[in-house]
Amino acid sequence: MSAPTMRIGKVLISEADIARRVAELGKTITEQYRGQPLVALAVLKGSFVFAADLLRSIDTPLAVEFIGLRSYIGGRTSTSGVVEITQDVKYPLGGHHVLVVEDIVDTGLTLDYLIKNLATRNPLSIKIAALLHKPARTLKPIPIDYLGFDIPDEFVVGYGLDYDGRYRNLPHIAVLEPNDGQMGLFHSR
Ligand code: XMP
Ligand code: MG
Repeated sequence: MSAPTMRIGKVLISEADIARRVAELGKTITEQYRGQPLVALAVLKGSFVFAADLLRSIDTPLAVEFIGLRSYIGGRTSTSGVVEITQDVKYPLGGHHVLVVEDIVDTGLTLDYLIKNLATRNPLSIKIAALLHKPARTLKPIPIDYLGFDIPDEFVVGYGLDYDGRYRNLPHIAVLEPNDGQMGLFHSR
């Protein structure tokens, strides 16, 4: 039997709700780090939209760095548990506070790996900003310092999150569901 094709289901978090929450997080983060040496470390690819909005709502000087991590194989919607650095940070993190910006914490395996890896680079501190968290799937509990939304155990796309490379450009968070024969909103191929 072949795997079911997937389609976009209901909107879980609207564009307006995301914007409101991101602005709140930016304000809190600004107060926390004012006057301190800060590097915002966006985890590619999924966090690029969240990072772009969040960082513009932070009103204190910071540097932006990117790290590429891969924990999912194309087309799969459950974690592989294997984390690979596909692109590393060029900037020395010693002497700086690091704010990791992540799209979603699912099992926690990816951030558990990343936090341990970053700690060896002697930053002043490591904190986590994540747009989404699926508490029902936790395998490694991660302290999320700045969280957008807890969500149920459903595979979501949009606002940077993809399924097999697609749907990152949706302005909201939507649920992905097996195709029942009807066309989804954003079928591009
Ligand atoms: P773990 O399980 O390591 O997973 O916390 C974190 C990474 O898995 C991806 N992920 C998702 N991507 N919709 C997505 O588009 C989802 O519902 C989802 N759940 C996990 C994501 O890359 C995240 O960084
Ligand atoms: Mg990710």
